[in-house]
Amino acid sequence: MLRKITALFNRKRMADENMLLQTIDRNNIPNHIAIIMDGNGRWAKRRGMPRSLGHRAGVESLRNIVKLSSEIGVRYLTCYAFSTENWKRPRDEVSYLMDLLVEYLEKEVEELHKNNVRVNAIGCLEELPQKAQDALSKAFRKTENNPGLTLNLALNYGGRREITDAVKKIASMVDQGQIKCEEINDDLINQSLYTFGMPDPELLIRPSGDCRISNFLLWQLAYTEFWLSDVMWPDFQRLHLLQAIISYQQRERRFGGLIKK
Ligand code: IPE
Ligand code: IPE
Ligand code: MG
Repeated sequence: MLRKITALFNRKRMADENMLLQTIDRNNIPNHIAIIMDGNGRWAKRRGMPRSLGHRAGVESLRNIVKLSSEIGVRYLTCYAFSTENWKRPRDEVSYLMDLLVEYLEKEVEELHKNNVRVNAIGCLEELPQKAQDALSKAFRKTENNPGLTLNLALNYGGRREITDAVKKIASMVDQGQIKCEEINDDLINQSLYTFGMPDPELLIRPSGDCRISNFLLWQLAYTEFWLSDVMWPDFQRLHLLQAIISYQQRERRFGGLIKK
């Protein structure tokens, strides 16, 4: 009985997904999507499981969403995996997350490579445990020439830290007489951020019901469209990404100006 219900449910989900795949405007896919992968702990708690299993289930969602993003032609997918504030969590949880990162990279790199995905990361990587840095370097090297989706993992990432680092870089250029203070502009700031060379995200997705930025891409999100959902990250499916993109495609983006009618 349970198997029959699951099969029916899966068939319905596939039908919904196919319908959305047909609805989506292939000429207006966001170039850059940013996701705050939140809600793993609550997902686990509701099931009476340890938080660690929520994080593990979250990796499954990441896998599905990377695959779909690459299939539909998204250029950059920035996934918030660990913030500069997440070190405040219990030592066991932090260490589980770091081990999970290494496991994900080791298990997935072949598949990512096969799908032409380039692995990149933003954040203070040099403060991550050595084994995480090694796994990242290996994944970067293997996928560096891939022309498809850039999977940008935000690790030990903080928007304020990123801006502070950019300010320091620019201040030292002024200090050394390479540029004048008057020459500091948006472009130079963009070039000094970890996301140098990437377009700003057109779409930000935050699952889990919380409506805040949590120190993510503070500069880059200036005109990004937000899509918030109560779904916890481990329950986030292809369907949800398609819904978010369709919602984005229906918005009128004005950037402070007016739309010509
Ligand atoms: C997101 O899920 C994963 C990380 C922040 C590393 P959480 O662990 O924040 O899950 P909740 O918000 O407690 O449910
Ligand atoms: C944001 O989630 C960071 C990541 C998803 C990696 P948090 O769970 O850390 O954010 P807050 O504490 O609810 O703002
Ligand atoms: Mg959270």
